Formats: sequence, structure tokens, C-alpha cells
Amino acid sequence: MVLLSPKNKFLIWGGNGWVAGHLKMILEKRGKDVVTTTVRMEDRESVLKTLDELKPTHVLNAAGCTGRPNVDWCEDNKEATIRSNVIGSLNLTDCCYLKGIHCTVFATGCIYEYDEKHKIGGEGFREEEEANFAGSFYSATKSKVEEIMKTYPNVLILRLRMPVSDDLHARNFVTKISQYDRVVDIPNSNTILTDLLPASIILAENSELGVYNFTNPGAISHNEVLSLFKKYVRPDFEWKNFTIEEQSKVIKAGRSNCMLDTSKLVNKLKEYGYTVPEIHDAYEQCFIRMAQGGAT
Ligand SMILES: NC(=O)c1ccc[n+]([C@@H]2O[C@H](COP(=O)([O-])OP(=O)(O)OC[C@H]3O[C@@H](n4cnc5c(N)ncnc54)[C@H](OP(=O)(O)O)[C@@H]3O)[C@@H](O)[C@H]2O)c1
Repeated sequence: MVLLSPKNKFLIWGGNGWVAGHLKMILEKRGKDVVTTTVRMEDRESVLKTLDELKPTHVLNAAGCTGRPNVDWCEDNKEATIRSNVIGSLNLTDCCYLKGIHCTVFATGCIYEYDEKHKIGGEGFREEEEANFAGSFYSATKSKVEEIMKTYPNVLILRLRMPVSDDLHARNFVTKISQYDRVVDIPNSNTILTDLLPASIILAENSELGVYNFTNPGAISHNEVLSLFKKYVRPDFEWKNFTIEEQSKVIKAGRSNCMLDTSKLVNKLKEYGYTVPEIHDAYEQCFIRMAQGGAT
């Protein structure tokens, strides 16, 4: 007798979100069974009911309070931020645990900042290193929750940073920095969604667990990103820089600048024959796709 493994069913939480939309598209393109929900994560009764009704094998949690127009919003709305990013995300994880469902969390790597041990151009932050950036309330909630959430045996935590899509969506890191009056120029780890989101499906499908820095390998500075943007997408693009000190005068919350160590991710994905390109190569390919897609 051949025993068939039960077919995977993906449930994406935060169904109207930017990352959620990309995940849905990727899963549908691959012919996977996928549904979405916008049920509030903190509403325990509704979360349990949704899990019972939809019976997913895998939850992809792309819900979270990110603030509009940006994370500065979280500084003035701390209770609402806690309700989603602390109470909500822990509640959803716990409900998945009780129902025996694998839960992939689209988390953030903006919980570190360069320090003596991790200088610009030096070694990146590894997954097990304690967060050292709490300059924004958003980041503070995310790092504290990750610390607790990783205790659960059903959870895969993927730390994205400055995600970039192949279009000029308002959430795209490139769109953001191309619209600022002035930008800082600091190397950072970035997540090119076209490279990383398919990898998240591989890891989820194989029920991988634990915390992963979820960015392309390496770090790229704002000026390097914008130079490539100018080269491939918008030849007449110009920008101006300012210092971190000058930046701090026009933003409410601090911003994390760091490089994450991606060796754990790269080695794990090797097991599945999947390669994530280095960030400079990845940006070139991304901007070529962007230009071909008509974005200018
Ligand atoms: N974009 C980035 O720069 C970035 C970087 C690193 C990590 N991430 C993380 O990746 C995840 C997805 O980000 P995104 O860029 O796709 O954000 P997004 O476009 O703002 O989507 C997040 C979605 O989550 C929903 N949501 C918020 N609180 C919720 C709650 N308590 N219960 C259920 N749904 C809730 C929002 O719905 P409402 O609008 O109705 O509240 C929204 O549709 C977030 O957790 C974010 O922290 C994002």
C-alpha cells in the first residue's frame, strides 16, 4: 500500500498586505492550494475558528503593524502596535501550535545596528546574537516577540530587511529612498523578494524551523542601489545625501543599519538546490526585470 502524504494547504495571514500579495501570486503560479485571511491575529476566537474551518497545513504569517506612511507611526500608536506585533502575532503562533500547524513568520532583521564587533564591511549579525537595536518602537516589539516566539516548536522565523520588489510599489525600499529629499549612504542587508520569497515556500513546505536571516548575501549602500537604479531604470535620476545626524532631525524613530550573516540560510537552501544571489548581482537582475516591466 502506498501512503500518500496529506496535500499541503497554505493559509496566508494579513491577506491584503504587500508581502502577502506576492506570496499568494507565487503559490498560485505553482499550482499550490492557497487561501488568505484578514482576520485580526489578536482575536483568538476568530483565529481558532478560521484554522478549524480552513484546515491549513501551513500558515504564512505576513501580517503585522508596519505603520503608514512609515514606522514613525508606531511611535505615536504604541498600544495598537503591541496589539498586532506582540499580542496578535504570539496569539496566532500559539493557536497554530495548538492545532499542530506549521507557522512561517515574515519577521524583520531591523533589530540590529553596526557596533564594535560588527563594523561596516566586517562580520554580519548571526541569528543567535541578541538584538542590539531598539531605536524604534516597531523594532523593539519585533525583537522582543521573536525572542519569545522562537520557543515554539512549530515556527519558522524569516528576518527580512528593506524588501525590494520588481516594480515601484510604495512599500518597495527603492521606491521609498528614490522619493526622499535626501538619503543616508550606509551598507545594509536587503531582501530582493523575487529571490527570497520562493525560498520561503521551500522552507515552509519542508517544515523547516527556527530563525533565519532572510536577505541576499552581502550588504549594499544606498548610493550603490541608486546608482544601479539610475543605470538600469531611470537614467535622469539624481539624489542628494545627508548624514545620520541630519536624518535624525527629520524622522521620529531611529532606523536600523546593519548587515546580517546569511550563511545559515545559504547552507540550508543548498540542501534544496536553491541559490540566493549576492546583493549587488541581485539588484542588477531586479532592475533589469523592473525596466523590462516598464517601470521608470
Ligand atoms: N515592508 C517592509 O519594509 C518590511 C521589512 C521587514 C519586515 N517586514 C514584515 O513583513 C510583514 C509584512 O509586511 P508588509 O510590508 O507586507 O506590510 P503591509 O503591506 O503593511 O501588510 C501587513 C498586513 O498585515 C495586516 N495586519 C496588521 N495588523 C494585523 C493584525 N493584528 N491582524 C491581522 N492582520 C493585520 C495589515 O492590515 P491592516 O492594514 O488592515 O491593519 C496589512 O494588510 C510585516 O510583519 C512586517 O513587519 C516588512
